[in-house]
Amino acid sequence: MPPAPIDESTWQALGAAAEEASGHAYAPYSRFGVGAAVLTSDGKVFAGCNVENVSYGLTICAERNAVFSAVTASDRRPELVAIYITSDPPMVAPPCGACRQVLAEFGNPQVSFIGEKGRCTMPLAELLPVPFVSRPTPPTRPT
Ligand code: THU
Repeated sequence: MPPAPIDESTWQALGAAAEEASGHAYAPYSRFGVGAAVLTSDGKVFAGCNVENVSYGLTICAERNAVFSAVTASDRRPELVAIYITSDPPMVAPPCGACRQVLAEFGNPQVSFIGEKGRCTMPLAELLPVPFVSRPTPPTRPT
């Protein structure tokens, strides 16, 4: 089932939280600040920014920091219903593959990001149609 649409005032609030977070980005290497804000099914908003590292590989994206912040504040697995992503300077910046997989762990949120044709919103399942899962294989039918 596709996720429920998010109303405009909710996107506004998520956008403001993401913008605010992007101002906290620690990005001395790329000079590309990213901010993200997630909305959980219980109506809470959690924001994150990217935090870079001199080793480069240890850098963590804004989206994952927002998700981990939601997990840290929750008693049980949070269900994500939306995420808004912004950057400073504003640039085309869909969420990276690693962040898509991490988002998929916590639901099928509506994802708002700047795409090639401007800001767009789509369900995570469209951005990551076949996430990694680990389950027993279904029984095969005898032929
Ligand atoms: N970055 C994010 O915060 N989110 C993404 O989905 C992709 C990239 C950050 C990581 C790094 O600090 C900077 O953007 C440039 O890649």
